[in-house]
Amino acid sequence: MFDKRTLALYITLVATVFARNDWTQPCISGSCSYDTGDGVKTAYSSLALNGDPSVLSDITTAAGWEISGCNPGWKTGAANVVVTCTGSAKQMAHCDHLFQGGNAMNKVVRLPQDCGVGPFARVVRSSQVQRRDEGGPEMHALTLDYNFDQLPATGNRTLSFNIASLNAPSDVQGQRRRLYPLPRFGSFDKSSTINAPPIHLTTGIPLFNQSIDCPAADGGIGFSAALGVNADVTVDALVSMAFQVSGSILPPKLDVFKLTGTLNGSAAVDFDITANAHGSFSTGPIPIFPPVGIPGLDFIGIFTAGPEFLVNAQLDADLNLEADIKTGVEWTFPNVEVVFPPSQGNSSAQAIPGQRPLNLSVGTNVTASGNITGHLIPRVQVGVTILKFATAQIFVDLDTSATFGLQAEAGAAASTDGSSSTSLSGCAQLDAGVAIRAGAVGAIKPIFDDGINFTIFSEDVNIAKQCFGKPSSKREYVGLLESRHVSHVEKRNLLCPSLGEGGVLESVLSL
Ligand SMILES: *[C@@H]1O[C@H](CO)[C@@H](O)[C@H](O)[C@H]1NC(C)=O
Ligand SMILES: *[C@@H]1O[C@H](CO)[C@@H](O)[C@H](O)[C@H]1NC(C)=O
Ligand SMILES: *[C@@H]1O[C@H](CO)[C@@H](O)[C@H](O)[C@H]1NC(C)=O
Ligand SMILES: *[C@@H]1O[C@H](CO)[C@@H](O)[C@H](O)[C@H]1NC(C)=O
Ligand SMILES: *[C@@H]1O[C@H](CO)[C@@H](O)[C@H](O)[C@H]1NC(C)=O
Ligand SMILES: *[C@@H]1O[C@H](CO)[C@@H](O)[C@H](O)[C@H]1NC(C)=O
Ligand SMILES: *[C@@H]1O[C@H](CO)[C@@H](O)[C@H](O)[C@H]1NC(C)=O
Ligand SMILES: *[C@@H]1O[C@H](CO)[C@@H](O)[C@H](O)[C@H]1NC(C)=O
Repeated sequence: MFDKRTLALYITLVATVFARNDWTQPCISGSCSYDTGDGVKTAYSSLALNGDPSVLSDITTAAGWEISGCNPGWKTGAANVVVTCTGSAKQMAHCDHLFQGGNAMNKVVRLPQDCGVGPFARVVRSSQVQRRDEGGPEMHALTLDYNFDQLPATGNRTLSFNIASLNAPSDVQGQRRRLYPLPRFGSFDKSSTINAPPIHLTTGIPLFNQSIDCPAADGGIGFSAALGVNADVTVDALVSMAFQVSGSILPPKLDVFKLTGTLNGSAAVDFDITANAHGSFSTGPIPIFPPVGIPGLDFIGIFTAGPEFLVNAQLDADLNLEADIKTGVEWTFPNVEVVFPPSQGNSSAQAIPGQRPLNLSVGTNVTASGNITGHLIPRVQVGVTILKFATAQIFVDLDTSATFGLQAEAGAAASTDGSSSTSLSGCAQLDAGVAIRAGAVGAIKPIFDDGINFTIFSEDVNIAKQCFGKPSSKREYVGLLESRHVSHVEKRNLLCPSLGEGGVLESVLSL
């Protein structure tokens, strides 16, 4: 189970295991940590490196180095910088550490705050520019990069890493403050809440619109048959996420990877379907909002995680009718808790269906049948890269759906005034479904394999079932309307309705 308490444990872990950035202490003991993030733009995160002091060094002022030629925005490729040994006698005494064991090459160094985007870099090359006894300070030219995967794993060189991260906001920082000096492990305020920035999306979009020209009977004027679907969508969500990752850079391996996330919110969609063509179609997933970024983290070269929130819609239909259909679905998710991979813990979720208006108008002169499933699929996805050797995209889909089924038949009805007209009888049914699934594309070895996926929660409920017209027809149709989803129907071209079909649209159902 993953709950707020566990989240708070993460915070405690972050706070107790790793110290705050201390720019006055040189990073020469073999252990070094870096805290970053504000919980709003970037996740509040901590990275700790532990290893052989001959592997991990420091080129900040605390270790006696003044850096020049380094761009604060340096993010990719190599940087050529010059470091000068300067400062107090105590600081300058640490300069030698960079060359302990003979050479600075292939050491991991802590970077000064205003150099590069990553907290640590690899020394690719170093060459002395000026010696201390040449009248000026000792200076070296260094080539740096973030390719930790290219560090040679020779001898006893070891370097492990520990990462804890939480995309939680200000009150967590408040907690952090309270947590210093280090508290007893686990002593935190259970009532603390995670106030990640809420996501609110709403839009009306055409999902599908296709028309075909149809010939008329008897060489008369042809007509146009069309299928149009518009969707009105509202999605609300509050997402928080925590990572725990550990392993080693030297030798490159991963020991722990755990992503925990919570989500609450709701998703509602109203479909407005105008159909007078026949056929089957599937729109496939259609992104209906630009991705919304969720605070992530970027320890370049070691671990990056970029979460985002997306919403896809999809319509699958098999139609043989002339109708206007307004239908929709609404689900509320009070508490979705995801642990990934599943070996790390149990996930859970609840979902509550809500009712949207249903309006159905059908052509009076037709035999009408059809199945239509509309999906609204909010998705949280996180692209993660670990040490360049493992990348994967982890996702959680909240697949909500509405399935509308209709079986109706027109029959001649003799009116009392002697004229003949048609009357429609049949049954219509609306079902709502939800399936909350998590999975990954790509493997993070040895933690999980490519294609891993699991269902956290799934439910189908009948929202409405109604028959209309001649009472005698009821029994006939009910059996046809077992709850079912139209999924991945084969795409066929739209067809013209048979000649003679059509007629006045009549409102037959309104819920
Ligand atoms: C590696 O460590 C072992 C034991 O700690 C030691 O005996 C050995 O000499 C070390 N080898 C190197 C190359 O440093
Ligand atoms: C489909 O497109 C046609 C013309 O492009 C437009 O008149 C009609 O309103 C559209 N229908 C829907 C349902 O969007
Ligand atoms: C999520 O839960 C919080 C606290 O329980 C609540 O204040 C918020 O309105 C919920 N958000 C959504 C979108 O349901
Ligand atoms: C997951 O749930 C099952 C039973 O529902 C329980 O036996 C198991 O210990 C749980 N696993 C974790 C990691 O909590
Ligand atoms: C449903 O149909 C009725 C009658 O035609 C109409 O008054 C109502 O506004 C419709 N509702 C929706 C949601 O379109
Ligand atoms: C609707 O679904 C049922 C069951 O899957 C199928 O028999 C029927 O042909 C479908 N299509 C229409 C147009 O009713
Ligand atoms: C989901 O997992 C099953 C095995 O549990 C696998 O057969 C299937 O291919 C996976 N689906 C995807 C989309 O990766
Ligand atoms: C209904 O269909 C019949 C032929 O099947 C046609 O003669 C009649 O005009 C149609 N009625 C309407 C209202 O379209």
